[in-house]
Amino acid sequence: MSTKTVFVKTFGCQMNVYDSERMSEALALSPGGYREVDAPDNADVIILNTCHIREKAAEKVYSDLGRMREIKVERASRGEQTIIAVTGCVAQAEGEEIIRRQPAVDLVVGPQSYHLLPDLIRRGGGNARFVETSFPEDEKFDRLPPRPTSRHPARTAFLTVQEGCDKFCTFCVVPYTRGAEYSRSVSDIVAEAEGLVARGVVEITLLGQNVNAYHGTGADGRPATLSGLIDRLASIDGLQRLRYTTSHPRDMGADLIAAHRDQPKLMPFLHLPVQSGADRILAAMNRKHTADDYRALVARIRDARPDIALSTDIIVGFPGETEDEFKRTLELVAETGFAMAFSFKYSPRPGTPAAKLGEQIPDEVASERLTRLQGLLNAQASAFNAGLIGRTVPVLFERPGRRSGQVMGRSPYLQVVNADGADALIGQIVPVEITESSPHQLVGVLAA
Ligand code: SAH
Ligand code: SF4
Ligand code: F3S
Repeated sequence: MSTKTVFVKTFGCQMNVYDSERMSEALALSPGGYREVDAPDNADVIILNTCHIREKAAEKVYSDLGRMREIKVERASRGEQTIIAVTGCVAQAEGEEIIRRQPAVDLVVGPQSYHLLPDLIRRGGGNARFVETSFPEDEKFDRLPPRPTSRHPARTAFLTVQEGCDKFCTFCVVPYTRGAEYSRSVSDIVAEAEGLVARGVVEITLLGQNVNAYHGTGADGRPATLSGLIDRLASIDGLQRLRYTTSHPRDMGADLIAAHRDQPKLMPFLHLPVQSGADRILAAMNRKHTADDYRALVARIRDARPDIALSTDIIVGFPGETEDEFKRTLELVAETGFAMAFSFKYSPRPGTPAAKLGEQIPDEVASERLTRLQGLLNAQASAFNAGLIGRTVPVLFERPGRRSGQVMGRSPYLQVVNADGADALIGQIVPVEITESSPHQLVGVLAA
């Protein structure tokens, strides 16, 4: 029996990583029995799961599609059919325009409709073209086939608990590409987490665009909170570590902060995007918090969990940002001290309010600010990592290391840790004494 193959390339955020996993699982179970392959060259189905957050990410899709078209033409000359599908946030934002720009594309399927993918692929032979970007009433999570029971490919997994966003930051496409905020029920999430743990997963990262606004239905029929969900999941035997991302500063409730003190399975790491340190810019971004609100929040979080590692997202060159306002961002970063951070040049996105503002910042100015900011952020990451030298931390080993005889894992603070050790350590949490550090990783030795 010839098994058909699927190649999935994932762009963008962790939510897309999760969606890609669900899509390939659904295709494996569909009548074609698609087997996932790690190169597109001879795949029967090619899926690009795309991101629309910045222009560069979105444009990259079209250059990739050009290469996928060549593969399709080449295979067609051998009498083989290739179906090219674009899924994810570019699919949602651009719809049919994608097929106009690249006619080799067969399917365009938005993030809320990918449960339809196996069926669309089945019908997608010949010249049929499908664009499916509605936000269906039917929840895709209820329509996807059950997840497999075979061993999970990794000991760590993502689990989407919340999707969409109602915040409408003026720079951001997510409320348009992912739709309104929606939370899955506690019972659904617990069942999925139990399944993952039965498959060998020991760490789960709960995902949501606004994960701390989670309010899914609880066991008592009333809306639950993220901290309640975390406590419920922590009671699953065999699940050893929990993380969550991404949080909005406005939704960081007292109960969630307390969970960082009281729930031992919740890791001491928090990604809390601030975007800017200048109040006028924060207001223009519609972030609904000031720089001082953020400072006060960080103080409360550190009060509850003094060793917590903080991470953030920052945008430079938002329309109208002055040198003085940029300096406020540098000040806030200097005061806060981040263990990790992602920083971006503002990218105007079609349909968002900020793209229509005057005073767009010249690229040279934004680039120069980004360089200065990243210098500071890298120094902070290096300092945070260097601070762990000589300490012994529990490391969850995830996979073989880059060098043979090494294993790679993560500290509670999410840094990559490499140590000499056998592959048998993968899936275990082991004390490791940190001996070396760099801005992006640590090296250690297994503690006796
Ligand atoms: N839901 C998350 C993150 C969404 S996107 C949150 O609310 O924080 C991830 C990051 O991309 C954002 O935090 C922001 O820093 C950045 N980003 C979003 N839109 C952008 C744009 N138009 N230009 C540059 N960076 C952007
Ligand atoms: Fe985008 Fe703001 Fe929503 Fe985050 S909170 S997804 S940045 S609109
Ligand atoms: Fe990108 Fe969509 Fe995620 S725009 S960041 S893939 S929600």
